[in-house]
Amino acid sequence: MAKKRIAVLVSGNGTNLQAIIDSIERKELDAEIAVVISNIKDVYALERAKNHHIPAVVINHKDFPNREAFEKSLIEELDKRKVDLVCLAGFMRVLTPFFVNHYKNRIMNIHPALLPAFKGLYGHHVHEAVLKSGARFSGCSVHFVTEDVDGGPIIVQRIVPVKDNDTPDTLAERILVEEHKAYSEAIKLFIENRIKIENNHLRILER
Ligand code: GRF
Repeated sequence: MAKKRIAVLVSGNGTNLQAIIDSIERKELDAEIAVVISNIKDVYALERAKNHHIPAVVINHKDFPNREAFEKSLIEELDKRKVDLVCLAGFMRVLTPFFVNHYKNRIMNIHPALLPAFKGLYGHHVHEAVLKSGARFSGCSVHFVTEDVDGGPIIVQRIVPVKDNDTPDTLAERILVEEHKAYSEAIKLFIENRIKIENNHLRILER
């Protein structure tokens, strides 16, 4: 069976990308990364791709007159590489229905909180909000991307305790460790065709 072809879209450091690369190289994921695309040049995630001989492309949203033109260029790059799954890993652009529906149930995103709580918040702000809420647990969520930002069907979640002396940074660090496990778990379920979605309700099928 041909390996599933994954595209990873990034905008920053790329530790989630690195975790996916490492899972593939450890043969835990029977897939290949067809391309890494960043909307910002010179980010470290692009270095990580080059270090592993993965095609790395910059498509800068600022070079386009509007979102649709930017997304058409993304789609051209992804379709020409026959990508099966698009993984957003710290990709800091909200995608429009035009793009989302082109890859229906084939775009995953990772969010550093336990959705549906704390949706739409990013980076430092999400952990600040969690600490302010007094929640005793937080974590991360891998979900399919739909038109409802951070509102798509949830595939995998992993939890961490919130400690009394936590800062947004210490909480973010503890969650990032879990993110690196959660993303590969979700991709593995996709590769094994064990994800079933009916009426926006997601089920994980037994092996
Ligand atoms: C992660 O915390 C992810 O949940 C969020 O952006 C961060 C990206 O980190 N959406 P990295 O670039 O993968 O290290």
